[in-house]
Amino acid sequence: MCGIVGYVGPGCASEFLIEGLHRLEYRGYDSAGIAVQNGSEIGVRKRVGRVSELERLLESNPVTGSFGIGHTRWATHGETSDVNSHPHIGGNGEVVIVHNGVIENYAKLRGQLQTLGYVFRTTTDSEIIAHMICHQWYELVKLGHDPELAETCQTAVERALVTFKGTYGIVAMFREAPGVLIAARVGSPLVIGVGRNEYFLASDASPLVGHTDEVVYLSDNEIAVITTESMELHHRDTGRLEPSIQTLQQESSDTDLGDFDHYMLKEIFEQPEAIENCLRGRIDDDSATAMFGGLNLDPMQLRKIDRIVLTACGTSWHAGLVGEYLLEEFARIPTEVEYASELRYRNPPMTESTMVFAITQSGETADTLAALRECKRKGHQTLAICNVVGSTIAREADGGIYLHAGPEIGVASTKAFTSQVTALILLSLYFGRMRHLSYHAGKRMIRQLRDMPDVIRRTLQCHDAVKEVADRYCNYENFLYLGRLYNFPVALEGALKLKEISYIHAEGYPAAEMKHGPIALVDENTPSVFIVPRGGIYPKVMSNLEEIKARRGPVIAIACEGDDQISELADEVIFVPEVEDFLQPLVTSIPLQILSYHIALQRGCNVDRPRNLAKSVTVE
Ligand code: AGP
Ligand code: GLU
Repeated sequence: MCGIVGYVGPGCASEFLIEGLHRLEYRGYDSAGIAVQNGSEIGVRKRVGRVSELERLLESNPVTGSFGIGHTRWATHGETSDVNSHPHIGGNGEVVIVHNGVIENYAKLRGQLQTLGYVFRTTTDSEIIAHMICHQWYELVKLGHDPELAETCQTAVERALVTFKGTYGIVAMFREAPGVLIAARVGSPLVIGVGRNEYFLASDASPLVGHTDEVVYLSDNEIAVITTESMELHHRDTGRLEPSIQTLQQESSDTDLGDFDHYMLKEIFEQPEAIENCLRGRIDDDSATAMFGGLNLDPMQLRKIDRIVLTACGTSWHAGLVGEYLLEEFARIPTEVEYASELRYRNPPMTESTMVFAITQSGETADTLAALRECKRKGHQTLAICNVVGSTIAREADGGIYLHAGPEIGVASTKAFTSQVTALILLSLYFGRMRHLSYHAGKRMIRQLRDMPDVIRRTLQCHDAVKEVADRYCNYENFLYLGRLYNFPVALEGALKLKEISYIHAEGYPAAEMKHGPIALVDENTPSVFIVPRGGIYPKVMSNLEEIKARRGPVIAIACEGDDQISELADEVIFVPEVEDFLQPLVTSIPLQILSYHIALQRGCNVDRPRNLAKSVTVE
């Protein structure tokens, strides 16, 4: 996973590198490090732990210089330790690199380089990159190439790259060539910021905000050669390219915490606006349907679709499951949601007219990207429901829908989930109106959708009541989350939220399915969170709730305002506004987000940076 930064210019490199690493810390926070060049000296400082630990190290042992690279790590190969932290040194310090990704054939290459006399200091896969580039550079210098030329450095990197199998975003610097940074990618993102006489590099655009709004997204198999004077792009196969400079639209205030203690809480409270933004400009009142600017398919092509495959990971997969229910109910199109990590290696039969939607907040999730590419390779139309503008998946899909939810920084996804569900509701309205859904049914859906931002504002008023429940239940070690139909994905999502930020074991289940196994877990120490709003099968879910109570299981119910019956049965009730079944996930997921937030806080967990996780999973 990890975040990468780089700087070339007249300024103080370490200032940008540290600030940038802070902004990228959501991508990994096992360790952090920087390398800064001053003349022919490259000072490397790295330390296990957060970027703040690295800052402390720099206070006692600073580095000065105006060229540098930095890294915040999410370990894939090799334990988290000072020595395994990036940057890594090649040869005798001639080359220093940072890497995001996995080099799958590192063990074989390591053996080859050891035979040639290279000494490995770490147990990571990444160190191989530093030594291999260094080795190629030595070979070129032996052949008479000028060691100080950017061109020699570029060729050394190119020759090293052909030996690697796997994924990488790499930035390399060379002791003999001060001011030269070589960046390359296959599978891991890199973006270059073009400033006035200076260049910035980062894994995503957030570190560039406030420094420049001109950016170049590196594509797979491209290499950037950055010097104090210029930036050149080269493609592995086609040679020199003209960089396509784009304008960055992010504001620095988008990533400020404001009055909130944590990004997760801020993002929970941003949901009314996030949903408003997702709906904006996408409703066609006259035709009682939705409209999308970026699907890039004409109505005839869309009419022909006979099956939809939604693919995603984690929370986005849960949104996809809501999408499956929605698309089948309103558009009557057979739909499946597939784990991207499975779909990429499975080979399910898919008709020619199957359309594939990748659902992803970051647009960088490696499994989702690989699944999308696999489907594209097989000739399917691929579309993306994505939040991050300009991300790899957004660029590679044939078309898609942006969520416009604003940056989501907290590792636990909240506003992206409700925005994804909103986009999927719009999509099912759109496909529905093309097929079986009547004008009046379309009108009715639109009316209800338009009310949702306000309904969510009202839902958020449950915050204090949920906090009290969290205070009472924070010491339990096992939870069940139960819901049916549209609330089954919500149960899965509620359980995931609790697991990932409070480290409590939690399982989501269809409420009626629990009697086929999980009910054996129920006792007075295992609370069940029941999502039981009024609607289609309310009495059935109530019966499931009785089954838990009969076994002395504590019950926390998420129910509709004005439901008197539930208070007699459940130990705790959190009331939310009543909405139609298909809109329930937008409402019922909110108290579950707040519940996991406060339980995690009570247990002293780091809510925005839970252990072992990272926001974007850019490795397989
Ligand atoms: C959500 O809380 C998780 N941190 C995680 O499951 C996430 O949803 C998943 O990694 C997918 O990310 P994406 O939406 O950026 O592709
Ligand atoms: N594979 C490298 C490591 O474990 C990089 C991981 C990452 O992308 O953070 O250090």
